[in-house]
Amino acid sequence: MAAFPAFFGLLMAAVVTGQMVDITPREAVRRVGDELKVMCKVPYVIDSCRMTVGTTSYRLRPDITGGDVIYTGNGFKSGECGALIKNIKEEWNGNITCVLPPQAGAIELAGVMRLVVARPPREPELRTPLDPSFKEDTEFMAQCVVPDGRPAARISWFLDEEQILRGTHQPIITSEPGSDLQTISQNVSRVLSADDNGKMLICRAEHEALDSVMEARRQLIVHYPPKRLEAGTITIFGLKLGEPGRLNVTVRANPPPHAEWRVGDVTLAPMQSNEGIAALEPVHLGGGYYNISLLLSRVQKEDVERKYYLRVSNELGQQEFTVLISTMDEPAGVELDTGAIVGIVIAVLVLLIAVFLVVFAKATDRWCFAGGRGRDHAKSSGESTPAGDVLLESGIALPSRTDTESAVGGKERSRLAGLSARVRAVLPRAKDKVQATEAAAETEEKPLSEEKKGVVYAELQLGEQNAEKPPPPSTEYAEIVYTDQPKETKE
Ligand SMILES: *[C@@H]1O[C@H](CO)[C@@H](O)[C@H](O)[C@H]1NC(C)=O
Ligand SMILES: *[C@@H]1O[C@H](CO)[C@@H](O)[C@H](O)[C@H]1NC(C)=O
Ligand SMILES: *[C@@H]1O[C@H](CO)[C@@H](O)[C@H](O)[C@H]1NC(C)=O
Ligand SMILES: *[C@@H]1O[C@H](CO)[C@@H](O)[C@H](O)[C@H]1NC(C)=O
Repeated sequence: MAAFPAFFGLLMAAVVTGQMVDITPREAVRRVGDELKVMCKVPYVIDSCRMTVGTTSYRLRPDITGGDVIYTGNGFKSGECGALIKNIKEEWNGNITCVLPPQAGAIELAGVMRLVVARPPREPELRTPLDPSFKEDTEFMAQCVVPDGRPAARISWFLDEEQILRGTHQPIITSEPGSDLQTISQNVSRVLSADDNGKMLICRAEHEALDSVMEARRQLIVHYPPKRLEAGTITIFGLKLGEPGRLNVTVRANPPPHAEWRVGDVTLAPMQSNEGIAALEPVHLGGGYYNISLLLSRVQKEDVERKYYLRVSNELGQQEFTVLISTMDEPAGVELDTGAIVGIVIAVLVLLIAVFLVVFAKATDRWCFAGGRGRDHAKSSGESTPAGDVLLESGIALPSRTDTESAVGGKERSRLAGLSARVRAVLPRAKDKVQATEAAAETEEKPLSEEKKGVVYAELQLGEQNAEKPPPPSTEYAEIVYTDQPKETKE
């Protein structure tokens, strides 16, 4: 009866005087048998120090050193009232209160901290749908419950060794009324893929009172119909006439697939053969991949000409593939990806060169494209200098093939010609259609050799190149055309 008003008064005093006891830590989690230091401080000299641990109130003094709760701190003079609490007991779970004398008046001051004496949870439970196997692409949800820990346990999810970070729901902590033990549950949801098949779903519980983690696990079984990574007709290359041939098709399926080949009007199940053609049992390669093979004892011409149909099925569905065979080697598949990257790099380089040339020409006022043009001077400056347009265009758009080269040879010379020192000059190729049409007017009157001088090819070479051979498709030309008219005629 009397305790409540006393405690209330204590609080009031603290609030009214503005003097709170500074207690650290405010909360701590310890195992049974551990120790804990609690420190209360006030900014004046004190002459007493009490600490309530569990239901017992301890009087603390620097000169008393026995027992499980002993004084710690720099003495009463410094206003410190600390306790070293040893051999923590289960029943000490709860508040620890320190009580100090006030600076003035008669009402004592109190500081409160919370000690959580850790208690290990029970084994985690992993709750998954009852049906042990799941279909690919379905949403799967599992729940993990770790009951009765103090504090609540922490849950993490793994798929084999890999932690699941996406698809985990907010954990929910509950406790029975009247109990300070906490139960935590967390759900995880995931769209299952073929790669998840056979993996172990693990719910891992960690807790202060546990030396090692606790786990609940369950293997996932994911079923899916037969499939191949690449779509379309399959071509098996490199078979040799007169020699044995093997048609391998790799298919993924779970449960294991049943395979059936159809050649002409003959159907072959595994281990069956007909006229030198034998179907083999699917070979499991692991991870749900199967090699399904057809053996030809001797590849003949008509074998190469016909189509082979492979039907693969399991409980979830079936697929039919068309297989062709070829005596040619597999086309040297210069990886398109690499080709594309190289192409982009070249395009960027060429663009840079073009921009550089334009900027250079502008900055130095040597606009070679628009200047006078010898005897056609008046005419060309009146018109929109078709040759110049073509040049600019071809310089930037960079035709990748020789047949689009527009070797418009002017007679003018620009100082851009100096650039040719940096660019490998090669002899221009024979005249082609573009050249003939677009530049006919200007080129027909003058000797070919002169025209040749007007063209410089900036060659970006990707591989070994032979001047006599047509360039490989991977070679591109930046064409810089200058004219050999002396610059004085330029306006
Ligand atoms: C422990 O202290 C907190 C305030 O810090 C109080 O709300 C709570 O009721 C106390 N618990 C007990 C069991 O005294
Ligand atoms: C977690 O899953 C259980 C059943 O697996 C379900 O009853 C519960 O509602 C789910 N909770 C959340 C938050 O999704
Ligand atoms: C086909 O598979 C067999 C094993 O099943 C392998 O030895 C052979 O090299 C494969 N052939 C081809 C062309 O991939
Ligand atoms: C399976 O078939 C692929 C071709 O589809 C082949 O490269 C591989 O060597 C084969 N492996 C086995 C073990 O049969």
